[in-house]
Amino acid sequence: MGLMAGIAEQGLDGSPAPSAVHRAMDEDECRHAGEATGGGACLDCRAVPDVISFARGAPAPEALDGGLIARCTDSALAADPTVILSYGTGGGYPPLREWLAAHHGTTADRVLITNGSLEGYVFLLETFLSPGDLIGLEAPTYDRALLQAQMHGMDILPIPMEDDGMDVGALAAACEAGRVPKLVYTIPNFHNPAGTTISLDKRRALVDLAEKHGFWILEDDPYGRLRFEGEALPSIYELGGPEKVMFSSSFSKTLAPGLRVGYLIAPAELVKTLTTRANQTYISPAHLPEAAVFKVCEDGLLDPNIARVTELMRVRRDAMAAGLHHMPDGTRCTPPEGGFFMWLELPEGMSADALLPVAQDSGVIYVAGSACFIEGHHNTLRLAYSGVSPEEITVGMERLGAVFASG
Ligand SMILES: Cc1ncc(COP(=O)(O)O)c(C=O)c1O
Repeated sequence: MGLMAGIAEQGLDGSPAPSAVHRAMDEDECRHAGEATGGGACLDCRAVPDVISFARGAPAPEALDGGLIARCTDSALAADPTVILSYGTGGGYPPLREWLAAHHGTTADRVLITNGSLEGYVFLLETFLSPGDLIGLEAPTYDRALLQAQMHGMDILPIPMEDDGMDVGALAAACEAGRVPKLVYTIPNFHNPAGTTISLDKRRALVDLAEKHGFWILEDDPYGRLRFEGEALPSIYELGGPEKVMFSSSFSKTLAPGLRVGYLIAPAELVKTLTTRANQTYISPAHLPEAAVFKVCEDGLLDPNIARVTELMRVRRDAMAAGLHHMPDGTRCTPPEGGFFMWLELPEGMSADALLPVAQDSGVIYVAGSACFIEGHHNTLRLAYSGVSPEEITVGMERLGAVFASG
């Protein structure tokens, strides 16, 4: 994968065979996917009283501002009770669609609000793509994006990752060899799980390649606003334009995942099709949380909240980086400049999959990186610093170091 400096300078990478045990990369994730009980650790994990979870790619409790959401829900309801409390359009709460359109320099008929951003991706798999179509996925990628592509019968083109994001050269070579995907799905900033950010040159090269071979790009960017240092880069959507690039994001990481508000920006005709699909599936998405999010945005409260959450995450990233010295010699890692995750590549021969039960017995859990690849990469793991306190991170890294020393 060509990632990263040695651990002394900080660093990570990984992958597994998609087993139920090793999936579960976000939200309710413990390592026992399917057993999770809706928010906390699963019963098995709770059996270890002080298990520290580096598996949950969710914001820490301090990041969730209940007062803010309550105030904005109240004022939204006071302003627009009938629309909010009635069935609505499948495309989402109209004022939020308008706000998002203006924010992204487009029109509301190109915006679809979904129950979390993953749903927009799934709708694309079901409508824009057909079983057997070739989809380009970074390797590693967000495990649910991989899982859904597999569940929908896609032909998957894995695109290797490097320190500065997807290996666009490898994608170009695949295209030259006749493997041209219909859609390339990419997570541009503070990648889940790799932690990387795709460079400006590669963003441009990817757009050029899409133009040359006629494929679409889906840029999924839930973490980009959570930057600790460095300059934000132009989005691939901005560089490539709306006739080549679709864009999705979410308020799960910047406000609260329980709101379940995400969105997709796509060509108007496609949004129309997806809106019909949404309408046929659930009539309309939940307008109350969307209206609360609209109030947060309209009243200028989103940016201050993002600044607050970013600082909470920065402190956690620093605490985890400080604990990397507990990892075995030869461990590699790309330190993220934002977001929720660190990605570790253990020395060859070590298996993060095999060591996971040992880690759990020692009171710390993570996601085996193999869940993020079609196969292999058993020496990799994802550590989320987002959901735990800096003190827990310090203790968790010590525990992890002891587990890996024993393996
Ligand atoms: C890259 C990526 N996309 C999408 C999602 C899904 O987010 P949402 O809660 O909006 O469905 C996640 C959640 O972890 C993610 O990491």
